[in-house]
Amino acid sequence: MFRFGADYYPEHWPEARWELDAQLMQEAGFNTVRLAEFAWSRLEPSPGRFDFDWLDRVIAILHARGIQVVLGTPTGSPPPWVMAMYPDAYRVIETGQRVGYGNRREYCPTHAGYRERSRIVTQAMAAHYAEHPAVIGWQTDNEFGERCFCDHCRAAFQSWLQHKYGALDAVNAAWGTVFWSHEYSAWSQIPAAGGTIFPDAFGPEYHNPGLALDYCRFMSDQYVAFQREQVDILRAACPDHFITHNFMGIHFDRIDYFDLAADLDFVAWDNYRRMQWTFQPHVNPSEAALAHGVMRGLKQKNFWIMEQQSGSGGWQIVSVAPRPGELQLWAYQSIAHGADAIIFFRWRTARFGTEQYWHGLLEHDGRTGRRYQEIKQMGAEIARAGAQIYGSEVRAEVAILLDYTTRFAFQIQANNPAFRYAAHVQQIFQAFHTRNVPVDIVSTHDDFARYKLLVVPAQYVLDEATAAAVTRFVAQGGVLLVTPRTGVKDESNTVVNRPLPGLLAEVCGVEVEEYDSLPEGVSQPLAFADATRFAGEAPHAKVWCDVLRPLSAEVIARYTSDYYAGRAAVTVNQFGKGQAVYVATFGDAAIYDALGDWLLELAAVERGSAAPAGVECCVRWQGDQRLLFVLNHTAEEQGFSLSAPMMDILSGQTIDAPGVVLKPRQVLILSE
Ligand code: GLA
Ligand code: GLA
Repeated sequence: MFRFGADYYPEHWPEARWELDAQLMQEAGFNTVRLAEFAWSRLEPSPGRFDFDWLDRVIAILHARGIQVVLGTPTGSPPPWVMAMYPDAYRVIETGQRVGYGNRREYCPTHAGYRERSRIVTQAMAAHYAEHPAVIGWQTDNEFGERCFCDHCRAAFQSWLQHKYGALDAVNAAWGTVFWSHEYSAWSQIPAAGGTIFPDAFGPEYHNPGLALDYCRFMSDQYVAFQREQVDILRAACPDHFITHNFMGIHFDRIDYFDLAADLDFVAWDNYRRMQWTFQPHVNPSEAALAHGVMRGLKQKNFWIMEQQSGSGGWQIVSVAPRPGELQLWAYQSIAHGADAIIFFRWRTARFGTEQYWHGLLEHDGRTGRRYQEIKQMGAEIARAGAQIYGSEVRAEVAILLDYTTRFAFQIQANNPAFRYAAHVQQIFQAFHTRNVPVDIVSTHDDFARYKLLVVPAQYVLDEATAAAVTRFVAQGGVLLVTPRTGVKDESNTVVNRPLPGLLAEVCGVEVEEYDSLPEGVSQPLAFADATRFAGEAPHAKVWCDVLRPLSAEVIARYTSDYYAGRAAVTVNQFGKGQAVYVATFGDAAIYDALGDWLLELAAVERGSAAPAGVECCVRWQGDQRLLFVLNHTAEEQGFSLSAPMMDILSGQTIDAPGVVLKPRQVLILSE
């Protein structure tokens, strides 16, 4: 069933209020709330002494109104007594500084004592709620987690390396430790890679890139292992409950999210469109669309929104207020991209604590204002349409490869200070999204053969199996798009001993002769060989320019200035039954906008519905039934045309063809 509700912190409010909250939730059409996620101090006030009475009482009140419950394991925010027990469980950040008490997620995921406390509280909750009719599932912790560089992690890293490599000789060979005389003669000599992994700054230490990449993998594995201990307990005690975690979209890149998702039943994520630091009133719908795509891609499966924005975001600073209709619009966009549940964060705006200005559906004083009324209206629509939407699938012919190992490697070596992997993926994705073409986000382990067009953006660390799978995809008739800094490194983060793009040079039919990393503000227009075909705004090369030597590829566009004027900047190569396109510069979004139609044609991918700019069209399939989501992301009326009358399942009204006028921020879900 389609789940609709909010994140509720009853422990923040007098018990006398709970009944009214439950009544207002029921009136808003809620069927689900998340509870207990940060309530460790109330659930286990002192070591081993548990108090579930208050939680039982609030669950009973909710359940009486038809509302079921997802419980969070509370380990994302330890009470003081936990940290007082283990002063060495505080995380050590990149710079070597140990964090102190007073925020949340202060813990080191490796720490044996912290892990034990996490198992104890999880076990107690699982035992208490296993048979409870109102409890349907679990969320592990909260938004795992930053890296730690403490001595416990260093020792665990050494064991992790022993397990991975077996012998020190293998480590030395893989990393090339002869460089600067780093050859290790004992496991205990190997450091944690602190001070090296900064996305936007430069640290005091520069570790061997091989060591740093393994450290990133190790830390990712530590969180996966920490979560697995909770998952194992919950699976054993509560076999009928689902288990999920609240992920953070595309921008978080410290954990291999494919690995973290593997142990869960489905992915849930926290979708904020306007955060405390966001002052521009405009929100780019393509950014949310990509984040949803990534979250759906982690398990190739529909997902939950565990925290959907419910008002201005704010800790110290308050973001621009969501305009009338925006909260609904953003929530419906989540559904359009595969959400089977919308849980708003949070029910009521907190009066105390760090998040006093992170606005909930209710005001600080508990009043129901505009935001509550908008979501209540949505609740009525979901009650009508939810069953038809639930479980329907997004189907795509285009896939973009997303790879966390590559992301880790770019954290270690950005290559160019202006390069951002996620922004690069966004630029390419946007060209498809603005054409209303659905895109799946895939991992190196997914089957590419299901797609017609595969994008391999800046696949910096390229292993042989992935290169072989990509090559096979093209040989069998697929269309491939490859961008710079692909195939540069092997799995040890060592530069390959062959011309770039390394293992994909043959399939792309090009070799990178040399490259130019450009300073900020330097760019040059590209010239298309067939200018009539690629009309529109002239795309520009910037950030990075590969200077190509085409082997068998045909030149589509060339550089126009500098010492490589006239050299190939975009090429296409016939390989087997398919074709490989190489774009040699990071450039601007106009490149992919210019190439978009041509790429879709080359791959025979069907275009999405034609719609004005700012109107997003997405399709979910319920078997053979097509549900067309039409979302007006603009503050103006927009015209949209239909080939036949359709039913809007939100309002239950028939929408006549051909001309439809969408109100500002209006959403339609049309069925034939
Ligand atoms: C210095 C050092 C060299 C090398 C270069 C380039 O000159 O002496 O060993 O590190 O910088 O970084
Ligand atoms: C995240 C967390 C929440 C809350 C919100 C708003 O998504 O999961 O606990 O902190 O951000 O800041």
